[in-house]
Amino acid sequence: MEIPLNLLNEEYNDRYFDVVNAIEEAKHVFFRGSGIMDILSAMEPGRDILRIGETGFGAGRLLIALMDLLDNCGIRGISIFYHSVELHPVSPGRMEAILEGFRKTAGPLIDLLLRAYGRIDITSRGWHQMQFSRPFGSLTVNLWVGEALEMVQALTLPCDIWFLDGHSPQKNPSIWRPELLLAIGEKTAPGGACATYTVAGAVRRGLIAAGFAVEQRPGFGIKKAALKGVKQ
Ligand SMILES: C[S@@+](CC[C@H](N)C(=O)[O-])C[C@H]1O[C@@H](n2cnc3c(N)ncnc32)[C@H](O)[C@@H]1O
Repeated sequence: MEIPLNLLNEEYNDRYFDVVNAIEEAKHVFFRGSGIMDILSAMEPGRDILRIGETGFGAGRLLIALMDLLDNCGIRGISIFYHSVELHPVSPGRMEAILEGFRKTAGPLIDLLLRAYGRIDITSRGWHQMQFSRPFGSLTVNLWVGEALEMVQALTLPCDIWFLDGHSPQKNPSIWRPELLLAIGEKTAPGGACATYTVAGAVRRGLIAAGFAVEQRPGFGIKKAALKGVKQ
C-alpha cells in the first residue's frame, strides 16, 4: 500500500503511524498494552508521579493520544514525566501536516503541542522541555534531540512505562538493537512495562535479554499481534 506523502518519514521510508485511526491504535497498542490505566489506578496514596519513556517522538501523536486519554479519565492530581527522543526532529509546519488527519478529533491538543514545540530549538541536541497543565495534573515533556541510546543513558531515574515506537525493525533495526533494549531494561522500574506493535523475534529476544517477561497480545487493524513486556 502506498504511504500518503505527509505521513512518510523519508529517513526510513516508513510511515510515522498508521493512516487509519492512529489515536485508537495508540490507545490499544501502547496504552492498554502497557497497562497505564491499571498502573495509575493502583498507585498508592501520595505516590502521584508516573515516568514514561518513548523511543521515537516523531510528530507527537502518542503524546496527543495520551493527553486525550488522561484528560477524560477522571484522574486528578498526578504528575507525568514524559521522556522522548527524536533523531530527525520535524519542523512545526511538518508536524502540523503529519497530524492533520485527526485535527477534527484532537484539534485543541494539536494546537497546544504545536505552540510548545514551536518554542524549542530543535537544531540543538540534548534535552528540551515542554510543560503542560492538564485536567489530570501536570505533564512535563523532556524531549531529547539526538540518538535514542544517548537519551536513555541520560535518564537519571527509571521509567515506569516505555512506548517503543521507532519504525519497523526491518526499516530501522538501529532503534531495536540489543544494546539499546538492554539500556531501556536498565532504565525501567521493577514491575514497569513496555509496549510495542512489533512482535519480531529479534525484538522479543532483545526485550527478554533486557529483563522483560514478554507476552503477545492482539494487534490493531491489519496487525494480528502486539507485544507487552513486564520488567521482572
Ligand atoms: C514511528 S515514528 C514515531 C511516531 C511517534 N511516536 C508518533 O506517534 O508520532 C519513529 C520515530 O523514531 C525516530 N527515530 C528512528 N531512529 C531513531 C534513533 N535511533 N534515535 C532517535 N530517534 C529515532 C524517527 O525519526 C521517527 O520520527
